[in-house]
Amino acid sequence: MQPEGMAPDGAGPEAVALDPDRVRACLERYGRPYVRLKAAATLDGKIATRHGESQWITGAAARALGRRLRGAADGVLVGIGTVLADDPRLTVRGAEEGRIVQAGGSVAGAPARIVLDSTARVPLTARCLAADEARRIVVVGSGAPEHRVAALRSLGVEVLTMATARPEPGAFLPALARLGLRSLLAEGGAKVHASMIAHRAADELWLFLAGSVMGDGAAPAWCADLGEAVPPRPGLAGLPRFRLEPPLRLEGGDVLLRGEVEGAEALQ
Ligand SMILES: NC(=O)c1ccc[n+]([C@@H]2O[C@H](COP(=O)([O-])OP(=O)(O)OC[C@H]3O[C@@H](n4cnc5c(N)ncnc54)[C@H](OP(=O)(O)O)[C@@H]3O)[C@@H](O)[C@H]2O)c1
Repeated sequence: MQPEGMAPDGAGPEAVALDPDRVRACLERYGRPYVRLKAAATLDGKIATRHGESQWITGAAARALGRRLRGAADGVLVGIGTVLADDPRLTVRGAEEGRIVQAGGSVAGAPARIVLDSTARVPLTARCLAADEARRIVVVGSGAPEHRVAALRSLGVEVLTMATARPEPGAFLPALARLGLRSLLAEGGAKVHASMIAHRAADELWLFLAGSVMGDGAAPAWCADLGEAVPPRPGLAGLPRFRLEPPLRLEGGDVLLRGEVEGAEALQ
């Protein structure tokens, strides 16, 4: 019998291993890390209630697999909205093996924790900024107050200041690659996922679906407005698409949908 929270066959460490060729191709061709998007949603795609409650939409097996995904990445990335709503640790704590051997042979155990935060408003007490063996990186915009940046740096946090008011994937992803990060797990929230898709900076999707329905138009879906980068279309043609694999049923009843972005142009 499997210990509680363990994923079934097909969702073990080999399932989360990155393809080193794809990671290398992404870096060489596009100068950015390989990006996986991850979200846990209800059947109608919602990742939180309208009041921001999201813990926990999916069950223990999905969460355990999510932590393994973190362990396979060089960095885990979220938006400031998620930090303010959930105060996540973004660590791999609780992953069964603790440290995971990646396909390329390197060992990952403490992926960098990265927050996108235009104005450096992240609380200094945020759990993802707690000092440990992992790098902590806050990506801020050009207008971030200097005293906030200094306060973050005094905690040992690396601050990347972008040239625009809001950090954009076309700039912060190459900057993270220059810091040595070859792969990222973007864990949301909705606006970050939308921004990564809109800027063609998403390579894979890992969508965990619970068998529940939120049924609330005001609750956020896993992908927010794609914005100006993907203008509203009159029809269904040309939507961003993921090439989905057969769903994987996890212990407890949740389902995992995995897919790579369709089209070679995805890696740009
Ligand atoms: N179920 C799940 O899997 C899951 C996972 C994560 C989050 N959540 C839920 O999602 C909700 C938060 O989602 P959210 O959409 O409000 O916030 P979010 O995506 O976490 O953060 C969005 C904010 O990040 C900042 N940002 C900076 N650069 C950005 C960029 N290039 N693209 C997008 N955002 C950028 C912006 O704020 P500034 O302009 O101030 O920088 C933006 O408003 C919470 O309710 C949380 O519980 C659920």
